[in-house]
Amino acid sequence: MRMRELGQSGIQASTVAIGTWVMGGWMWGGADENDSIKAIHAALDAGINLLDTAPIYGFGHSESVVGKAIKDRRDKVVIATKCSMVINAPGGRSVGRSTAAGPSEHGHLEIKIYNNPESIRNEVELSLKRLGTDHIDLYQTHWQEQETPIEDTMGALVRLKEEGKIRAIGVCNATTDEMDRYRSVGQVDSDQEQYSMIHRNLEGDDSGAVNQLGCCKDYKISVLAYSPLVLGLLTGKVGPDRKFAESDLRSSQKRFSQANRQKIAELLKGFAPIAEKHNCTIAQLVIAWTISQPGLTHALVGARTPEQAIENAGAGNIELDASELAQMDAAVRSGATQLDMS
Ligand SMILES: NC(=O)c1ccc[n+]([C@@H]2O[C@H](COP(=O)([O-])OP(=O)(O)OC[C@H]3O[C@@H](n4cnc5c(N)ncnc54)[C@H](OP(=O)(O)O)[C@@H]3O)[C@@H](O)[C@H]2O)c1
Repeated sequence: MRMRELGQSGIQASTVAIGTWVMGGWMWGGADENDSIKAIHAALDAGINLLDTAPIYGFGHSESVVGKAIKDRRDKVVIATKCSMVINAPGGRSVGRSTAAGPSEHGHLEIKIYNNPESIRNEVELSLKRLGTDHIDLYQTHWQEQETPIEDTMGALVRLKEEGKIRAIGVCNATTDEMDRYRSVGQVDSDQEQYSMIHRNLEGDDSGAVNQLGCCKDYKISVLAYSPLVLGLLTGKVGPDRKFAESDLRSSQKRFSQANRQKIAELLKGFAPIAEKHNCTIAQLVIAWTISQPGLTHALVGARTPEQAIENAGAGNIELDASELAQMDAAVRSGATQLDMS
C-alpha cells in the first residue's frame, strides 16, 4: 500500500482509504454493525490506515461503530472526521428535513450546515466521545455555508489544533475561493471532493470550471476523492437485477437507472484486458486509476463487508503505466458523455 502525506501535516495516510458513510445505515438501507467492524479490521489488516467518517452518517452511528472497531488499535488509524452538519442548528443553511428515525431515533430532523465556532467546539467533543479517542487526526468542514465567516470557522479549527484535539485541518465540498479564505487564517491540509472516472469537474474545463486538482497541488493540499466507485456503480457488479431498498439512496438515483447500468457495463467491459494483465478486479482497476490522476492523492472507498474492504485495499498495490491510463481515459471520455449522472 502506497502512503502519501496529508498536505503538509506530516501524517502519512494510505492512498486507498476506507469510507464509513454506509456504516451509518441511514440512506443506505441499513447496515450490519458486526460486518462494519469486521470491514474496518480487514481494511487495517490489508494496509489501509486512513478512515473517513462523519457525525451525520447515521446521526452518530458511524462514528460510534468506528470507535468500537478501533478501540484496541487506535495507533494504527488516521481518523478523518468532520463538523458542519448539525441537526436543528440555530443558524446556518438548511439542507432539508428527514423523517428517518435512524439508529439513534432522532425522528423528524432539520439538517443544517452550520460552521459556527461554538457549534464546532461542541461537535468536536461529541465526535471524540463517540470515537473513543483524545484526538482526531484530520478534522474537516463537511459542507460550506455563507452565514458564518470562513475566517471565524478557521479560527476555531486552528485553536482546536493548538489544543491538540485535532492534528490537521481539511475542507470538503469547497471552492478554491473558499479554500483561499481558509488558508488566509491557517494551514489547510486536505480537500475532500466528489471525484471519479465519470465525475471529473475538479479537472476544470474550457467552460471556465477551475482546475481544483491543479490548485491544490500548487498549495500542497491533498485531494481526497469521495464516491470513487460512484456508490458501487463502477465495481462492475451492479447488474440489471440488483434491487435497492427504498431507504437506500441509490433506489431513486438516475445514475442507477437500467439504461445507465447497461452503458456502464459496456464501458467497464473495455477494461477487461488491463484488469487481466494486472490480475485484478474492475473495482480495483477503477480505484487504481483514481489515485493515479495528477493532484488526486487519496481515494475514500466505502465498504460494507470485509470482502469489499480487502478487495478495495488491493488497489493500493497496483501501478498502472501511462499507456494503460491513457487507454482507460479514452474509453471513459467516449462512454461517459452518454451517461445520465443527475
Ligand atoms: N464529504 C462528503 O460530502 C462525502 C460525500 C460522500 C461520501 N463521502 C466519503 O467517501 C466515502 C466513499 O464514498 P461512498 O461511500 O459514497 O461511495 P463509493 O466508495 O463509491 O461506494 C461505496 C459502496 O459501493 C459498494 N462497494 C464498495 N466496494 C465494493 C466492492 N469491492 N465490490 C462491490 N461493491 C462494493 C458498497 O455498497 P453496497 O455493498 O451496498 O453495494 C459501498 O458502500 C464515504 O464512505 C464517505 O466517507 C464524503
